[in-house]
Amino acid sequence: MLNYEKIFAERTRLMKASEIRQLLKWVSKGNVISFGGGMPDPKLFPKEEIAKITYQIISEQGEKALQYGPTEGIEIFRKEIFNFMHKENIKVKDADHIIVTSGSQQGLDILGRILIDPGDVIIIELPTYLAAINAFKIYEPKLIGIPVDEEGIKTDILEKKVAELIRNGEKIKFIYTIPTCQNPTGLSMSLDRRKHLLEIASKYDLLVVEDDPYSYFLYEPVKVTPLVTLDNEDRVLYVSTFSKILSPGLRLGWIAGEKQIIEKISIAKQSMDLCTSTLTQYIAAEALRQGVIERHIPKVREVYRKKRDTMLKALEEYMPEGCRWARPIGGMFILAWTPEKIDTKKMLLKCIKKYKVAYVPGQSFYVDGSGTNTMRLNFTYPTVEQIDKGIQYLSEAIKEELQSS
Ligand SMILES: Cc1ncc(COP(=O)(O)O)c(C=O)c1O
Repeated sequence: MLNYEKIFAERTRLMKASEIRQLLKWVSKGNVISFGGGMPDPKLFPKEEIAKITYQIISEQGEKALQYGPTEGIEIFRKEIFNFMHKENIKVKDADHIIVTSGSQQGLDILGRILIDPGDVIIIELPTYLAAINAFKIYEPKLIGIPVDEEGIKTDILEKKVAELIRNGEKIKFIYTIPTCQNPTGLSMSLDRRKHLLEIASKYDLLVVEDDPYSYFLYEPVKVTPLVTLDNEDRVLYVSTFSKILSPGLRLGWIAGEKQIIEKISIAKQSMDLCTSTLTQYIAAEALRQGVIERHIPKVREVYRKKRDTMLKALEEYMPEGCRWARPIGGMFILAWTPEKIDTKKMLLKCIKKYKVAYVPGQSFYVDGSGTNTMRLNFTYPTVEQIDKGIQYLSEAIKEELQSS
């Protein structure tokens, strides 16, 4: 047999299969309540509308919708995204400043591809979205984590770190942030911090990548202004997705920003997949045009608000002393801290096997290896009943772990 190990490229050593993913595979087999993935509630997908639109698209525009399309995305879809962003108060110059991607995950990978040379510095939040860390890592940057608190990334620490890095001759390529309902903490950046972050970016002439899948799901009457809207210097690149506002199965995301970078992204994307699925672009464009997404978001928001509240109430009711958690204003996740002596990664297998409940250990989101006592809890996928039961089981597991350690 061919020695496959010998033929893999060096860079594959930087690609690690997540052990957590392996563990979470068990979840689908056993009767386990999962707070693990970041999945939307599948019962809420607007299935009938999507089925009707798909039939209509294929019968009326099948010759175009089943054909290859332009790399940057089909024109009507980019125009609909432009209108959508406009209504949501997300600044964008025109449809030409938007490129459609195969999920926002592809967008993150392309940004790594076009921006990162080995040894460049990328500033990220501590903790941050694991798959962004993995996407960037392949291009061999130095990933520098800046802590997050209830007001988002700590910009005072950020400013000192940026100054220090520049003094040491480091090349900072961009700051990657999820300012609203962050993954994994669920926390959002305050307006003052947003302004401060942009001031720092301006002072040191840095690009900011704003990843924003969750700002459409705020469960409280608060106003959140995206960084891209506050930015007057065209230094924010806005990344978002249809995965949460419509369906992740369509694999549609987009990037909006300066034309020069959009063009470079388009060239890189050509060799990756030629174009994003034309068919799903037509479907989503029509869903936007017919107001399906506009009607869908508030419905989903109501259900998710109830689920968030159920999880917060259950945490309050069942969690043992010494545990704490962040209260998110929206999004899909709650990050919980157990007492220091608990290693949530070690505890996971027992939780799945004995207590029939799963979560994502927080450590993987911390690029410096800290966060060993944290866990990310998703509240959108499980049912309200499962949330209440699952948190009860989880609390029992933590209590047992505390007694045995
Ligand atoms: C912060 C963040 N960015 C990007 C993504 C990627 O999503 P998709 O590729 O489905 O658009 C996710 C998925 O959960 C996410 O949480």
